[in-house]
Amino acid sequence: MDFLKRSFTIGGVAIESPLALAPMAEVTDTYYRSLIKELGGVGLVVSEFISAEGLTRKNDRSHQMLAFSENERPVAIQIYGGDPERMDDAAAIVEAEGVDIVDVNMGCPVRKIVNSGAGSALLKDFDKAARVVEKIKAAVKIPVTVKVRKGWESNDVIPLLKRFEEIGVAAIAIHGRTRSEAYTGASDWGYIAKVKEALTIPVWGNGDVKTAADAIRMFETTGVDGVMIGRAALHNPFIFRDIHAYVSGERNVENEIDRRIDAMQRYLAKIDAAPQIDKWKLHKARTVIGWFSKGIPHGKDIRTGLHDITAVADVQRLLDNARLRLVA
Ligand SMILES: Cc1cc2nc3c(=O)[nH]c(=O)nc-3n(C[C@H](O)[C@H](O)[C@H](O)COP(=O)(O)O)c2cc1C
Repeated sequence: MDFLKRSFTIGGVAIESPLALAPMAEVTDTYYRSLIKELGGVGLVVSEFISAEGLTRKNDRSHQMLAFSENERPVAIQIYGGDPERMDDAAAIVEAEGVDIVDVNMGCPVRKIVNSGAGSALLKDFDKAARVVEKIKAAVKIPVTVKVRKGWESNDVIPLLKRFEEIGVAAIAIHGRTRSEAYTGASDWGYIAKVKEALTIPVWGNGDVKTAADAIRMFETTGVDGVMIGRAALHNPFIFRDIHAYVSGERNVENEIDRRIDAMQRYLAKIDAAPQIDKWKLHKARTVIGWFSKGIPHGKDIRTGLHDITAVADVQRLLDNARLRLVA
């Protein structure tokens, strides 16, 4: 079980722990990523996808999404778009921010995105997908990575991934579902193993890792260099450090309630200090505290209280009350 000791590099960027936080729209902004990084165990954090159109048309919101903090490093920013002539400029804008890696989204299944030729729609047209990556490679010096699905419908993307490797892509993340499967069924780990076997660049396996045991099983059965985790990190932001603890044989040494309340407080402090408007802060607090409070005693009281909050300080009071009730 030495999987976690296998550090590797992505185009020269050292990945100290072979576990990555998957890109998730509306979730993996700088505040969430830096929290996950602080909680420990993660080797790479990837941003929510950012529109290449938005970046190149100087959209304020897209530019705000480029924010990152130093503690996140190494950090990857993901871009999406269907126009090869814009994706390279967008990648150059990302590079100018000083991030470590630019990642290209070729997996998003959402209709609005694929109708514009972006996301997983690129998996229907290998020549166009290769052109996107070639142009980006020519535009930036930082490592370029690509996150893909298993295919659009039933096609095999391995020939495309080999082209990416020839073009100089530094790593691939593969979610073992096709576009048409969206989130149904199971991630096909057998296909992930085939991708790993076909390529020489590092491969992140992705899809359906919910526990530490799942992560180890993915390493064992697919041979991937790293495991990328998305949804499980929403309810358990400690999953990365739990995987390390599991491998080193530690069991249940942490107090779940204390660590959860601590994570919630850290998160609140981050969003409270953010430049965004109050409405955004309250929305984030409701969503993220809602996730993190699941499964702990008095968590339901916290979630009920979230309906009535009008300031971040109100959430802090809910957490203090929950803690007081626990010691009482
Ligand atoms: C809320 C949400 C938002 C997502 N946004 C993105 C995204 O912006 N870019 C991307 O490549 N994948 C995105 N994904 C897909 C995840 O990165 C990941 O591939 C997928 O959830 C499967 O991994 P999991 O089973 O560990 O969650 C998103 C998934 C979720 C649940």
